[in-house]
Amino acid sequence: MNLLKDKVALITGASRGIGRSHALLFADEGADIIFTDLVENDNSASLVEELKSKGVRAHFLASNAADYEQTAEVAKWVAENYGRLDVLVNNAGITKDNLILRMKPEDWDAVLAVNLRSVFNFTKAFAQMMMKQRSGSIINISSIVGINGNAGQGNYSASKAGIIGFTKSIAKELGSRGIRCNAVAPGFIETPMTQQLPEEVRKDWMSKIPLRRGGTDLDVAKTSLYLASDLSAYVTGQVLSVDGGLVLGN
Ligand code: NAI
Repeated sequence: MNLLKDKVALITGASRGIGRSHALLFADEGADIIFTDLVENDNSASLVEELKSKGVRAHFLASNAADYEQTAEVAKWVAENYGRLDVLVNNAGITKDNLILRMKPEDWDAVLAVNLRSVFNFTKAFAQMMMKQRSGSIINISSIVGINGNAGQGNYSASKAGIIGFTKSIAKELGSRGIRCNAVAPGFIETPMTQQLPEEVRKDWMSKIPLRRGGTDLDVAKTSLYLASDLSAYVTGQVLSVDGGLVLGN
């Protein structure tokens, strides 16, 4: 398939993890890829090479997604070098977990800035370009905890719930200009972090997941691919859970 042929996609925080899977899968489908992360390192360099080997254009830009001015610079660079953006994936995210009595105000601010203000920054920076094109797909990576909440993740859950409200508002605001905006809500994804959980904690999670397995980065990227492509041409303002049914509860 060539679902993203001639499309240009930008993914934030994509040197590793879920964002990296997005970049590779979208490139397999023919998209040129621009991706950002905080710093240039071996991961970002190897991803550029891997993407180019697939026969697409690929660029890495070092940029802090929480920073409004730096994000505006990214948009300026994309306008000058590509002249368009078809798909924006707001993926950059961090956690600074703690119970409320121990959570420091700076932990709240940092998580809200990276996870939520970044989505505002990038959406605002590229809205005009997409409006002129009269097309575009914005995909915001939320989380199951933005829907259900999670003890010890007040800041993270609030940021991910904020993404959902923002996504629906932008879908309403920009829909008439041909721009779609949806959110993806991953559940328990197998990452180095979750793989280190004690066996009994993992078992407890698995017992709550109807499909009885953790998700993969690729499971999430495939859902975003649907939202990025014309397969979802009539879908906007939605939150798609990628969680093996975890969000349904017991
Ligand atoms: P990760 O930590 O492996 O990757 C996140 C990337 O974002 C890193 O490369 C990091 O350097 C970058 N980043 C952090 N702050 C940044 C900033 N200010 N500006 C630019 N880049 C920045 O995380 P992972 O697991 O790949 O998560 C990706 C997204 O998926 C996040 O939004 C996360 O909240 C969300 N998510 C992850 C789940 C999981 O189980 N891993 C579950 C639900 C949602």
